[in-house]
Amino acid sequence: MKNFLNISDLSAQELKEIIEEAKSRKLKRKGFNKSEPDKDKPFSGMSMIMMFEKPSTRTRISFDIAAKQLGGSTIILNQDGIHYGKGDESIKDTAKVLSQYADMIMIRTASHKNLDEFAKHSDIPVINGLSELSHPCQIMSDILTFEENKGSIKGKTIAWLGDGNNNMSNSFIEASAKFNFKLNIGCPDQYKPNKSILAWAKKNKADISIHKNPADAVKNVDCIMTDKWVSMNDKVDKNKKKKLLKSYQVNKKIMKLAKSDAIFMHCLPVGRGEEATDEVVDGKQSVVWQQAENRVHAQKSIMNWCLK
Ligand code: CP
Ligand code: NVA
Repeated sequence: MKNFLNISDLSAQELKEIIEEAKSRKLKRKGFNKSEPDKDKPFSGMSMIMMFEKPSTRTRISFDIAAKQLGGSTIILNQDGIHYGKGDESIKDTAKVLSQYADMIMIRTASHKNLDEFAKHSDIPVINGLSELSHPCQIMSDILTFEENKGSIKGKTIAWLGDGNNNMSNSFIEASAKFNFKLNIGCPDQYKPNKSILAWAKKNKADISIHKNPADAVKNVDCIMTDKWVSMNDKVDKNKKKKLLKSYQVNKKIMKLAKSDAIFMHCLPVGRGEEATDEVVDGKQSVVWQQAENRVHAQKSIMNWCLK
């Protein structure tokens, strides 16, 4: 039984196999209706519980469709409707109980510690659908999207602008070590990457550079990526943080500094006019809708990997 909690937990080989399976399953579905199952239905007779402590559009729906396409079903729970998290039932007991009802569980949590605790006691695979520390499912979809547009990500250069210390940047830093791409992080001193994740990446031979000047980070890159300046449950002075990140906005001027065929990526939801302008989000170089679609395909392979 395997859990999918962080990019760093899997070998480079395993991660690449997940991406390749996603590509091949997606290709085989050409002409299928969106919820029509794949021919082999590997999740047939099985179900996935999804538990949300925070709002979600993409993760909630893409996992639901992923389970259907694999021939299975889902049960969606909000923290409010169950005992979990209220103190009247421990995480251990919730994990044991839910393990009796389904074959897999996906959790979106405000506490990565709770996710680890849940996984420790669960008898079924646990998938991280976003924690304050990492967002590995999104990153797998982003790698898939990058490769569909630009070929192998190995040896390419990607710029990350804005908050260098959130769940997305953490998982992306881990991915740069596993998939061997160069990562330029453009961020202010106050939002530099998580020190221990950066140290792990460097130990694992990642090629990462940190730039205070956003123009230096994006010069000649193959892709520019950013994320919300204020993440869910981010306990900060929002206006102060936005002011600090203002010069890291992805706009036309910034896009021009990248390669002429560079792509723009964002996991969504996007703060239009904040971390990216409308022109960029809706522009020709943007692949944000493809990233959203690819959540389904990447997650199907992640689910299959967990079952192997
Ligand atoms: N990108 C992402 O995880 O979106 P949701 O918050 O809508 O799930
Ligand atoms: N960093 C963002 C990602 C949203 C998908 C957040 O945690 O809110």
